[in-house]
Amino acid sequence: MIDILIKGGTVVTAEGCRIGDVAVRGEKIVAVTEPGEYTEAGRVIDAAGLFVVPGAIDTHSHIEEEFKGVKPLETWTQATRNAAVGGVTMVLNFINQAKGKTMVETVEGEIERINGLTCIDYNVHPVFIYYDDNDEVVAQLPVLKEMGIPSIKAFTVYDEGGFADDYSIYRLMRGLKELGGVLGVHAENKAMTEQIQNEFIARGETGAEYYAATKPPIIEAEATHRICMLAEETGCRTYLVHMSCKEAVDIVASFQAKGLPIYGETCGQYLTMTEDKYLEPNGFREFITPPLRKEEDQERLFRGIREGTIQIYGSDHCPFGKDAKDEGYYRSGFTEVAYGGVGLLENVPMLFAEGVLKERISAERFVEITSTNPAKLFGLYPQKGTLSAGSDADIVLYDPAKEVTLGTALYDNVDWTAYEGRKIVGFPVLTMQRGHILVDHGEFYGQAGGGRFLPGELKEEIAASVR
Ligand code: URP
Ligand code: ZN
Ligand code: ZN
Repeated sequence: MIDILIKGGTVVTAEGCRIGDVAVRGEKIVAVTEPGEYTEAGRVIDAAGLFVVPGAIDTHSHIEEEFKGVKPLETWTQATRNAAVGGVTMVLNFINQAKGKTMVETVEGEIERINGLTCIDYNVHPVFIYYDDNDEVVAQLPVLKEMGIPSIKAFTVYDEGGFADDYSIYRLMRGLKELGGVLGVHAENKAMTEQIQNEFIARGETGAEYYAATKPPIIEAEATHRICMLAEETGCRTYLVHMSCKEAVDIVASFQAKGLPIYGETCGQYLTMTEDKYLEPNGFREFITPPLRKEEDQERLFRGIREGTIQIYGSDHCPFGKDAKDEGYYRSGFTEVAYGGVGLLENVPMLFAEGVLKERISAERFVEITSTNPAKLFGLYPQKGTLSAGSDADIVLYDPAKEVTLGTALYDNVDWTAYEGRKIVGFPVLTMQRGHILVDHGEFYGQAGGGRFLPGELKEEIAASVR
């Protein structure tokens, strides 16, 4: 007996689109068929006119992460409820190494804690913050791998928040290369960021209108180039997070052309907002690093997605409340705002609306960068990332005609979003995880503890098929 039959939708995978049915038994998909092959099921969902896609895997979230002492408003439970409303069925969340603990201790403690809180499945990217003992860091990489955590992340900026020097990154890459792991890197040139920002501060130019100019593209481009060179030297699988500018996309494309395992990620905010946002009232709340850029950068990012330079799409969700943002900004301009924007809920629907429905990318490419490639790169495929017999029944139904006004009303416990009031056409109407309906036409049916930690096991040939 089939438990759930999703009938007559446009079923989309990275390989193609077709009208068909998806049959679910228990937590798994048992078949994807021509229309009408199964007729009976515990529940039949009419998906005529809808797109049926694998649940998105958000590769870049900062749930419950503090920045300079500022805590986000949303809890893990609220954040994963919000994710499900936006069609996200799994997050790969950053976990900063805790002071006085090793990375392994930090991650073990967090997994135990998150298991009782999460509404959707998850894995983590540990972020190495304390670099005084490189030996310990490198020695723990195999332990993390055994735990099912194939990736870690390093920053080339942020003095008090995890800056790793080039040698530390080089050592991490050597260690990860041996294990077949992935290094994620936030690439910006620290010295130039600090000193260019000091020039603005000295002139008293700390308002929002100056913010983008304090971090010009060269800051990202130079660091991206440096990281690509280290990736070439070590052969380490390297994932450049939140790429924002055309220069960085060109650099990554040139290194990928040599056959190197370098992957690019971008986020909805870079595709759908420009630096003009900073001229709007409260636009400073969207201070993110790197900053919002120009339309020509958006064009290059979309081309990068189409051409395969950018294979991964994340939100960089940092749900700091508006009081904390405003207090920092009015105290000292761009220097003291907790960086990061809100976007876990809107990120994937924005790509569907602005990318697929406006024909900038195909529906197949949408699925590939939001779900299939994340699953492949982080060792979760084919359990996640596709719609096929044996895969987890993580399924999202998009109504391409549904008009939605974005904003905090869609969220639980988020009090601002840069998308407030923006209308989009095309939105998820049903989100299912492992056969359980989490969201049906806006109603949430999930629960804290309903999600699980899912270990990743990176397989060479699968990772090599990320494109
Ligand atoms: O502003 C951003 N991007 N978020 C803060 C943490 C990060 O990823 O850099
Ligand atoms: Zn970052
Ligand atoms: Zn981030």
